[in-house]
Amino acid sequence: MTERGPVTIRTIENGEVERFARAFRATFAGEPSEHDLVRLRAILEPERAFAGVDADDEVVATAASFSFELAIPDRPGLPCAGISGVSVRADHRRRGLLTRLLAALHDQARERGEPIAALWASEAPIYGRFGYGPAIPTREFEIRRAHAAFTVPADPGLVRLVDTSTARREFPPIRDAARAERPGLLGRSSGWWDHLLDDDPPDSRDGAGPRRHALIPERAYAVYRVRGSWDDGVPNGQVFAHEVVATDAEAAAAMWRFLIDTDLTDRTVTGARPVDDPLNALVLDTARMRVVDGWPLYLRVLDVAGTLRGRSYRADGDVVIEVRDADLPANAGRWHLEVDGGTVGCDRTDRAADLSMDTRELATIVLGGVRTTQLIGAGRIEQHRPGVGAALDRLLATDLAPWHDFMF
Ligand SMILES: CC(C)(COP(=O)(O)OP(=O)(O)OC[C@H]1O[C@@H](n2cnc3c(N)ncnc32)[C@H](O)[C@@H]1OP(=O)(O)O)[C@@H](O)C(=O)NCCC(=O)NCCS
Repeated sequence: MTERGPVTIRTIENGEVERFARAFRATFAGEPSEHDLVRLRAILEPERAFAGVDADDEVVATAASFSFELAIPDRPGLPCAGISGVSVRADHRRRGLLTRLLAALHDQARERGEPIAALWASEAPIYGRFGYGPAIPTREFEIRRAHAAFTVPADPGLVRLVDTSTARREFPPIRDAARAERPGLLGRSSGWWDHLLDDDPPDSRDGAGPRRHALIPERAYAVYRVRGSWDDGVPNGQVFAHEVVATDAEAAAAMWRFLIDTDLTDRTVTGARPVDDPLNALVLDTARMRVVDGWPLYLRVLDVAGTLRGRSYRADGDVVIEVRDADLPANAGRWHLEVDGGTVGCDRTDRAADLSMDTRELATIVLGGVRTTQLIGAGRIEQHRPGVGAALDRLLATDLAPWHDFMF
């Protein structure tokens, strides 16, 4: 048996995007198309893309961060490292490469002043040990057109279909307006907008037609596809509503009515929606609507004080949280979170802890998307005085549930 030499972790050069992409895709049993490479070159930040390179100069592991900003109502967004492209070649698994890659990404993010990291987990058991918690739960809806009466009037006539260049111009400000209200939504760079709106290779359509762009000017947009199909002469196509963002109730109702009533379809399937999506209250016959838990967005608190000071609060309160964090000792210890008339303090303290938790649990509750009391009930957070879990929930509560919708 040949000895496996050491693997060096380093950032990639500009010219190595293809090597990075090939190594990553191979782990997911595929290979990058020419189109993937063009897209990746537009969005990948080589100085934030790490490769594990073996003694033969083969790329055997990959992971990268994107520079995102996580929406926080009434505050500037929180700089956020969006972790992606994680792969370890089959013959190098379980030798600590993911552990080393994440340590490198976390160190770099902290140096860049990003107090928080986010990722979509391919499998739930992977990232908890690295301090990630499922902080933004999402829901996916399947609405049957025959049972899709609404509770309010809706005017689909407000909607018009637009070309890519109009979408490229009109959609971003609508999303930015939604981000002002909705915690969690990550901002998109222009490269990411191009990826959403321009990239549409037939092999990524999953049997559906090309992407369509629907707009209610300044109020709502939708990015969706239609898959046509027939059953015994009866049309039963599907609408895939990948991204639907509306800034007011009338526009939301009009856009959903328009999508659901697409000719020759019998159902609409949504992408990741917030748990308090008004769509749930728009449809009258909710019993005939299928609602499933979607993928949650995982967060990792890289800087406790930076994250807790960086978010907004709707209530005053005062709690001492003890955080355990073996990987990032700068986070470990007792933190006094105090909110008083809009002024937020989060400092180390010697006071006795009200609550104790691992950093993974802190990440899970930090945006207010999952309740502290729920994790206390599950034995994952220790409450040292009755009622302090509920007090922390009142402090962390947000007007709208946190949401994030696009994959990265
Ligand atoms: C998931 C993956 C990146 C793990 O890489 P790795 O280098 O083997 O991970 P490490 O050796 O650093 O493992 C660290 C710990 O996590 C555990 N772990 C790793 N992958 C796991 C998984 N899929 N499920 C459960 N535990 C896992 C390891 O057992 C190890 O635990 P231990 O320290 O108690 O022994 C790799 O298996 C892979 O590339 N999988 C396919 C692609 C994928 O799913 N990527 C993630 C995209 S979000």
